[in-house]
Amino acid sequence: MVSAVAAHLLFFIISVNLIPTTPIVEERPFQAIDGGLGLVLGKSRKRVFPVPHTQEPNPISEAYGYCNTPNRTEQAWEGHSPADYKLLSVQVMIRHGDRYPLYSIPKTKRPAIDCTLSTNRSPSHPLLNSFISHMAQGGRGHWESPLGSVPRLPNHNVCEMGELTQTGVVQHLRNGQLLHQAYKRHNLLPSSWSPRQLWVETTGKSRTLQSGLAFLYGFLPDFDWTKLTVRHQWSTLFCGSACDCPARNRYLEEEQRRQYRLRVADTELERTYVDMARTLGMLTRQLRAANPIDSLLCHLCHGLSFPCIPMGDSGTGGCLTMSQFAVIRRQQLDDEVDRRRVGLYHKYAILAMYPYLNRTAAKMERVAKSSEAGRQPRAGGEEVFTLSSAHDVTMAPLLSALGLEEARFPRFAARVVFELWKSPTTTQGQLKKRAGKGDKSKAKDGEVFIRVLYNGEDVTFHTTFCRSHDRHASQPLCPLKNFLSFVRRDMFSVVNATSYQGACYRRPG
Ligand SMILES: *[C@@H]1O[C@H](CO)[C@@H](O)[C@H](O)[C@H]1NC(C)=O
Ligand SMILES: *[C@@H]1O[C@H](CO)[C@@H](O)[C@H](O)[C@H]1NC(C)=O
Ligand SMILES: *[C@@H]1O[C@H](CO)[C@@H](O)[C@H](O)[C@H]1NC(C)=O
Repeated sequence: MVSAVAAHLLFFIISVNLIPTTPIVEERPFQAIDGGLGLVLGKSRKRVFPVPHTQEPNPISEAYGYCNTPNRTEQAWEGHSPADYKLLSVQVMIRHGDRYPLYSIPKTKRPAIDCTLSTNRSPSHPLLNSFISHMAQGGRGHWESPLGSVPRLPNHNVCEMGELTQTGVVQHLRNGQLLHQAYKRHNLLPSSWSPRQLWVETTGKSRTLQSGLAFLYGFLPDFDWTKLTVRHQWSTLFCGSACDCPARNRYLEEEQRRQYRLRVADTELERTYVDMARTLGMLTRQLRAANPIDSLLCHLCHGLSFPCIPMGDSGTGGCLTMSQFAVIRRQQLDDEVDRRRVGLYHKYAILAMYPYLNRTAAKMERVAKSSEAGRQPRAGGEEVFTLSSAHDVTMAPLLSALGLEEARFPRFAARVVFELWKSPTTTQGQLKKRAGKGDKSKAKDGEVFIRVLYNGEDVTFHTTFCRSHDRHASQPLCPLKNFLSFVRRDMFSVVNATSYQGACYRRPG
């Protein structure tokens, strides 16, 4: 109750100040939320983890990876397991798809992009028209306040700031379809799925809500609206009623100071901002505050040339250049390296993502319990599919908290998938036979395992809780209990604590 009121208050304050962020005050004051600071970026090559390089990463090709242009077939290792394993549940977190910038560069024309949807525009998708008609029926669904008043499709000829583009819609129709294919043969959701089996949640931004719906439509084409409830997460951390954590805020503030120091120490970056500001005829700090990289990325992703202004006196005029862009991006890549080295962000991330991970773990445990031999199935089924539609400031800490520190920064429409698997039931007879004895049989229930995937790649054995698991043993997958003890205790060792409460409320030392 209290948090719902607080959420509305925050929502109100944010809307009034036109701060282009989701309602949590602690996010990245120095640069853009959801696309600014730490835009250190998606993947350009086929791999989620950069291949150890002998040369510097190329900031331009990295940026193209971040765009995630939907023009090629994609890898998807979701749904892969040893034979006879049963898929019990899947929980997905997505980042919204391609969006219009959150900031504009003063004195320049904003990128000309039409956010209305049309199959005449590229990129398109075979499901686009039926998706549009299905969204028109959305009034039949259940919407947690304030989601009912958020538009379900992007709809401005001149995109609004932060609006999802057609590219963003197509990215998520494709994601949903990929997982539809991956899970089809596992019968994850029966065609007669019940409301409890599907959980969908989103922040209150139109780009996350619309991304979630596009994903869902690709995953479950023509789903029955009347069975769907779309839930609201007021915090970009998806922390529900457990958001209060003073120590987390302190780590974030320290992390922001680190980031600020690194930036001002970068003379090449400083010179670049001075050059760009001179071209545009404005103060350097004015340009910096406008967070130009956000807008430049949008130009790049949409194949638009960088903004220009007419030549004037005193050296103003000309175009922003690709080499200026590359310098800003290079500094952001350096920042990622420094961030990992210092480790403050990781501590922040552990505390930031605990509530989400705790919820994820609890769901898995519930579903695993209910699958135990001899249990009566619960009426209405279990929570087998969860979709959380989120931001880069959600997914980046999630990756860090899982120990996937080397993973690339979440590109547009990035996805993290948690799968829960169960091995086949064995009988004592089988076990003994294997041991060379043979004889009477007694059923032994299968064991439960977790897989974690990032953008279709299996990263389970890169996570903190399964990095040292010996997967050549009789267990080819990562036991769920590793994840459970990580979330319930082990993850806090990084902050010298054994619980969330203990870590959040310890006195600063
Ligand atoms: C996809 O688009 C990107 C960015 O526009 C481009 O660099 C790449 O060559 C395209 N790939 C294909 C297969 O068309
Ligand atoms: C963690 O999850 C458990 C359910 O397994 C719940 O009882 C508890 O309140 C959660 N803790 C937090 C801080 O979210
Ligand atoms: C961790 O906690 C212990 C016991 O409270 C304390 O002695 C130790 O100095 C702490 N270490 C760090 C790095 O904070």
